[in-house]
Amino acid sequence: MKIAVFASGNGSNFEAIAKACQSGTVDAEVVLCVTDRPGAYVEERAARFGIPMLSFRPKDYASKREFETMLVEELRRRDVQLICLAGYMRIIGDVLLEAYEGRIINIHPSLLPAFQGADAVGQAMDYGVKVYGVTIHFVDATLDGGKIISQTAIPYEGSDREALEAMIHAAEHVLYPATISKLIKQFHNTI
Ligand code: GAR
Repeated sequence: MKIAVFASGNGSNFEAIAKACQSGTVDAEVVLCVTDRPGAYVEERAARFGIPMLSFRPKDYASKREFETMLVEELRRRDVQLICLAGYMRIIGDVLLEAYEGRIINIHPSLLPAFQGADAVGQAMDYGVKVYGVTIHFVDATLDGGKIISQTAIPYEGSDREALEAMIHAAEHVLYPATISKLIKQFHNTI
């Protein structure tokens, strides 16, 4: 199974996935890392893992259709079968959705459908929730709305955002590789 990981920033989830694939814990190969923010730290992580990087500036394209068409060409050229969004802060458009229907997944730092969109952790803290969490879901045309694949609950009653984010990241780094592994087995069974 050939995977592409899309990330806009730090890339700690990219690294967790790359590590799990390279160690054989997940039976897949990350063949490409895509970022829409050239200079993002994920580029350094990809270089460390020897994973090819595709960095593009959306502003250099006339429309989302245009840059997604370029992305689909690059993904197909590398035989990518599964796209994992890992902190990719951009809504996926029709071109990618149609080309990779049912083959794009995303990680979101809340127990969806609660706290969709930007700053999910801040939204949940403001709400005063006592159980935070992480969700991995299929991506469709709605914002954070596709079918849920897996979730982890994180009970926390404190007010230290940094500590909470560290707990969320730690949970993500376990849940994402495990979910990809589970999905790959399902894909194999349906072929
Ligand atoms: C992760 O916490 C992920 O859940 C979140 O961005 C972070 C990326 O961290 N995604 C979203 O908020 C998507 N709506 P990373 O760059 O260290 O992997």
